[in-house]
Amino acid sequence: MRRKIVAGNWKMNKTVSEGLSLIEAIKANVAKVQGAGVDVIVSPPYVMLSEAAKALQGSSVKLSAQNCHQEESGAYTGEISATMIKAIGAEYIIIGHSERRQYFNETSASIAKKVSVVLSKGLTPIYCNGEVKEEREAGKHFEVVQRQMEQELFHLSAEEVKKVVIAYEPVWAIGTGLTASPDQAQEIHAFIRKQLSNKYGADVAESISILYGGSCKPDNAKEIFSKKDVDGGLIGGAALKAEDFLAIVNGFN
Ligand code: PGA
Repeated sequence: MRRKIVAGNWKMNKTVSEGLSLIEAIKANVAKVQGAGVDVIVSPPYVMLSEAAKALQGSSVKLSAQNCHQEESGAYTGEISATMIKAIGAEYIIIGHSERRQYFNETSASIAKKVSVVLSKGLTPIYCNGEVKEEREAGKHFEVVQRQMEQELFHLSAEEVKKVVIAYEPVWAIGTGLTASPDQAQEIHAFIRKQLSNKYGADVAESISILYGGSCKPDNAKEIFSKKDVDGGLIGGAALKAEDFLAIVNGFN
C-alpha cells in the first residue's frame, strides 16, 4: 500500500518563533486527525529547520526542507546541501517547485541532479511538476508533465524512483484560489502513474505516492483525496494555520 501524505510547504513565511508556535499547535492536535497510513510533513524555511527538528522529536510529524543544492558541498555561497539537511534530521526535500523554476531559473538538468543527490543521501525527494496556464489552455498539460518526468525523473533506476514522492502542481492553481477539479486531478495523476508504469512497470507505479498541490483547502481536500490516484496534497497557504492544515489532514477520514 502506498503512503498517504499531507505536506505543508511554508515557503518564505514565518520567523523561527512563529514557526515553532505553528509546530506546537500542529503537534497538540495532530493525533485527533491523523489516520493510519497517513504521513504528515511540515516544510519550514532553512533557518528554522534545526529548531523544528528538535521540536518534532517524538512526534509523528515529519520534517522536510524546501530545496537543496545539487552538489554535495563546495564553493556555492548562500546554498545548502542535502547532507546538511540530513544532519539536522529532516527526511524529505521538496525539489523542482514551480516557484524555484520560475523565479530562480531552475532547469530540468539541475532538478534531475537534485533528485539524485537527495536520494543518494537516503532522503526522500518530493518532486514537483505541472503545467502553466497557457499550456493547460492549449491542452498541452499531458505532454508537459511527460517531458518533465522524462528529463527530471527517468534517469533513476526502479529502486530509486520507488523512493520518490511526486507532487503534481498545476502552476495556474498555486496560490491563486483556482483548484484543479477532483476529476482533472485524477485524470492527470492517472496519466503520471501510467508514464511510471510504462517506464518502470505497474508494481513500481502502484507504489509511488502522487500528491496534488494548488489551492488545496479544508473545503476541497476531502473530495480531491478521494480520487483513486491522488495520494494526498502539498499544501501552501493553508499550511500556515494549524487549524486549516489539520482540517486538510482530516480529509482522509
Ligand atoms: P498553495 O501552494 O496551496 O498556496 O496553492 C501549493 C504549493 O505551492 O505547494
